[in-house]
Amino acid sequence: MALENKIQKLLDLREEAKQGGGSKRIESQHAQGKFTARERIELLLDDGSFEEFDMFVTHRTTDFGLANKKYLSDGVVTGHGTIDGRVVYVFSQDFTVFGGSLSETFALKICKVMDQAMKVGAPVIGINDSGGARIQEGVRSLAGYAEIFERNILASGVIPQISAVFGPCAGGAVYSPALTDFIVMDDNNSYMFVTGPKVTKTVTGEDISTADLGGAQVHGKKSGVVHFIADDEREGIMLIRKLISFLPQNNLEDPPIIDCKDPIDRLEDYLNEIIPEDPNKPYDVLDIIHAIIDEGEFLEIQRNYARNVVIGYARFNGMPVGIVANQPNYLAGVLDIDASRKAARFIRFCDAFNIPIVTLVDVPGFLPGSAQEYGGIIIHGAKLMFAYGEATVPKVTITLRKSYGGAHDVMSSKQLRGDINYAWPSAEIAVMGPAGAVQILEGKNLKLIKDPEEKNAYAKKKEEEYKEKFANPYEAARYGYIDDVIEPRNTRFRIIRALRTLATKKDMNPPKKHGNIPL
Ligand code: HXC
Repeated sequence: MALENKIQKLLDLREEAKQGGGSKRIESQHAQGKFTARERIELLLDDGSFEEFDMFVTHRTTDFGLANKKYLSDGVVTGHGTIDGRVVYVFSQDFTVFGGSLSETFALKICKVMDQAMKVGAPVIGINDSGGARIQEGVRSLAGYAEIFERNILASGVIPQISAVFGPCAGGAVYSPALTDFIVMDDNNSYMFVTGPKVTKTVTGEDISTADLGGAQVHGKKSGVVHFIADDEREGIMLIRKLISFLPQNNLEDPPIIDCKDPIDRLEDYLNEIIPEDPNKPYDVLDIIHAIIDEGEFLEIQRNYARNVVIGYARFNGMPVGIVANQPNYLAGVLDIDASRKAARFIRFCDAFNIPIVTLVDVPGFLPGSAQEYGGIIIHGAKLMFAYGEATVPKVTITLRKSYGGAHDVMSSKQLRGDINYAWPSAEIAVMGPAGAVQILEGKNLKLIKDPEEKNAYAKKKEEEYKEKFANPYEAARYGYIDDVIEPRNTRFRIIRALRTLATKKDMNPPKKHGNIPL
């Protein structure tokens, strides 16, 4: 064959691979408002940066009449490219080929990019759109999944792993995204569940739709499995690009610092008045976050799940940080099971990837009640404690208002190796709130007073005494548990200076195989 023809053959094969499962199936994908596997990669990566691997791979199955039914690339597009000039590895499942189902060769392709990403030290982004295990391949498909799972596990804490779910993701297939650090889900065509509606109906009798069982709304609001709900795939892909901008390439690097045009000493006078006089009145902690970070640019994570705690990424003087903040606007910012789990996992990710943590505290305590106790709030609250206590990245804490009881200790307190702990003058740091404390300390005396008005007046007087003593930051500051009481309007500058000072921080945990976080 003349060289010219050989080159033509290469171009023809490339074209054939790009057609995936053929134009009809591509049309069907588009008709559902979905992009194809390659279109998604084009959108995700910098223009022209994608280099594809294993385009000519086909499956090796001969059963079920598959010997002559082969598609180049075998249902998954893999390779590497860049996002804002930084290398990432990608795989994108192609629903037009056997419904994106996973064969032995499909799994090998994914493993290849994961292995190389680990050697290079670059993030892996996986786009899921698949009917699960390729039924015709049986156990080889199951083994293929497990090969991927093991790599997800070993890569955890070494390179960032991000999953998009833009279509079906069912059965054991859910566990690869679940093992990654972040999941983005499109709100229209996507679902994730271990067991689908049909089997659910047979086994339990429950009649439930696909969306109600495992749609983006369910996972973004109820289960907390998903970190970002996107209105469409394009938005989901842009979210991934944005997320990557905050993250280092791997656990040995620092997160990328960008130029900061926002003045570091910008004063926000209204912060001096943002905390309501009445300690039971809520306010939106997001207003405080937006006021103090660079350009007000906050990438909130799990925005609709456990809203009593806010987590997300922002920058201070160009430096990425993870923010954890109690949200007084929702359940008074109380810590419950979901909020504890949400914040704990986020803190562990930040710590694994050298991202400093800024904590804004306004917490009335842990949520009381049998539902929480039966659900194991003890063990889940301990997760948050563990995550803060083992984290060795710079930790800056600002107590805005309440910091009561066990929740005070948990929320990046000095004794959990908080590095720099500030408080606003509005801070109240105590074992519990004044009303609760007086009921316990003065219980016997209160019982003796029969007249309700007199009883009330006595309780109020005792509450005032308690407030005078504990409902301020100075008792804690006197013991050095708070490093300084700061003016709210100057918070941005104080955080930036703290982070700058802590930039060279070195801290270590005792040598061990790994700790035993209360799972
Ligand atoms: C082989 C599959 C397939 C699969 C879909 N296809 N799933 N081929 N193995 N698992 C093929 C179909 O035959 C069809 O081929 C094409 O993909 C598109 O599928 P449709 O059914 O026409 O599409 P749609 O109506 O959109 O339905 C999508 C679907 C459905 C809901 C995902 O295909 C489905 O239920 N598939 C089976 C899902 C499943 O039970 N998988 C196993 C889960 S258990 P043609 O040639 O007609 O285009 C599992 C275990 C993993 O995954 C364990 C890991 C530990």
